[in-house]
This record gives sequence, structure tokens and C-alpha cells, in this order.
Amino acid sequence: MYDRFNRKINYLRISVTDRCNLRCVYCMPAEGVELMAHKDILSYEEIVDFTKKAVADGVDKIRITGGEPLVRHDIIELVKSLGEIEGIKDFGMTTNGILLPKYAQQLKAAGLMRVNISLDTMDPKRYREITRLGNIEDVFAGIEAAKAAELFPIKINCVIKNSRFEPDAVEVAKFCEANGLEIRYIHEMNLETGEFSIVEGGEGGDCKNCNRLRLTANGDVMPCLFSDLSYNVRDLGVEKSIEESLKNKPRSGTSNHKGKFNNIGG
Ligand code: 5AD
Ligand code: SF4
Repeated sequence: MYDRFNRKINYLRISVTDRCNLRCVYCMPAEGVELMAHKDILSYEEIVDFTKKAVADGVDKIRITGGEPLVRHDIIELVKSLGEIEGIKDFGMTTNGILLPKYAQQLKAAGLMRVNISLDTMDPKRYREITRLGNIEDVFAGIEAAKAAELFPIKINCVIKNSRFEPDAVEVAKFCEANGLEIRYIHEMNLETGEFSIVEGGEGGDCKNCNRLRLTANGDVMPCLFSDLSYNVRDLGVEKSIEESLKNKPRSGTSNHKGKFNNIGG
């Protein structure tokens, strides 16, 4: 499928929950966020139904995000159902890695191809400051589990303030180099002011070549991370919500006052 600027849309990012087991300072306030009501959260059936139709329309790359996707109940069941859809060439997940020791093997067996794991520092104290709740040892164990399960290529998402040469990022880069991991530098963004930028080494944030649609946990189809536009699949049905998103996908992003990272999954 193509939008009105003739961009080919083949990448669907699916946020399966707005909940998380961490509270990263750039993502959430300390007290957490107001959570979506349970009744508003799409069932796995609804997510699979949406994804099948998106794949029939030309999506061949999907990614599960959150919040933290691995905190959603029975996540393996969803991965399995999505993994069975014919026509998906790339199937990834973005996770903070904490629960990978428990789930990596099952994810692989269910059809997940690869993972991106968040890690912004190598220093245990800094990690605790950034995530407010996390233990860095859990992430290292998660990375080992992803390796053992062969969820390759494993990419590390490293949020930076200004440059890839700041001390925390340099240490993470060394760790990646030594461990066969690909690093992606993500500039810290502010959705409300529309401060956003490209992911160094990745393909996000490049409006001209944007190939994405997003589905949030409560069924909003969002054509752009940096826009308030959304079309709810329960209100409009799958076809119409996709059609409206394509028709209204902005040429480039400006700002987003409604969304937060924890519910649109970056
Ligand atoms: N700026 C940039 N990236 C963010 N993420 C969350 N909040 C922000 C923000 N304000 C991204 C991080 C994390 C992923 C889950 O979401 O890359 O690794
Ligand atoms: Fe959780 Fe990821 Fe947000 Fe951190 S950035 S609080 S790990 S969703």
C-alpha cells in the first residue's frame, strides 16, 4: 500500500500494552502513567485480525512494542499467531530485556525472528537512575538469553542526549562490539515539542522514506509518531482505519500532544 506522497507502507509497529516493569526517565514520570482501561485494550484476536489485513495490503515487516511487550499476559500466544501469518519477512520485538531469560526460547519457537534490547549505559548505578527500577544484571542475562535463542541480529537501542560520543554511549558501543551486537543510537525525543530526529544506524525519523503505520494497544491506528492523528479500529473497522491513516499520513511530523512513548512504543 502507498500513501498520498507515494511512500510505500510496509512496516507495522504493534504496541501490545502501555504497561512496563521499568520507569525510564525519558519515557514516564516516576509515579507511572495513567493506564489504559482493560476494556479498551485490543484482544489478541483483534490484533491478529488487523495484522492479517495489513499484511494482505502489503505489510511484510512487523514489530511488537509496548510499554514492555513481555509484561502482557500470554504474549507467546500472540507471537505464535502473528508468526503464522503468511507473507511476513521480518518479525521483531523491542524489549527492555528484563524478561528475556524467561521468554527468549519460547519467543523463538513461536516464530519471533529478532529482538532490539534497550541499554543506555554500562554502569549499574546509572542504569538504576535511568530506569528508576531496573538491575543492569537482568539486561545482561536477557541479552545472553537472546543469543542462546538465536534471536539474531540482536540490536541494542541506546538513547543518547546529544551525541554518540557521550561517555555512557561509548561504553555501550564497546560492549556491543565485543559481543556481536548492533548498536542503534536514539536521540532522546520530546513528542510534545516535536523534537525528533533520525535513529543513527536505523531507519526511523526519516519522513521522506517513512514506511510505517502504528497500532496502539487500544486500537488507534497512527500514521505518524509526531502527529495527533489516529483512527481507531474499533470505531472504524480495520479497512477504514488503515485507509484513513494512509490518506492522512502527514508529509512530515510536527508534534504530538496526546501520545506518550509508553503507549505508542517509539
Ligand atoms: N526519546 C527517545 N526514545 C525513547 N524511547 C522511549 N522514550 C524515548 C524518548 N523520550 C525508546 C527507547 C527505548 C524504547 C523502548 O523506546 O529507545 O529503548
Ligand atoms: Fe519501559 Fe521502555 Fe519506557 Fe523504559 S523506555 S519505561 S523500558 S517502555
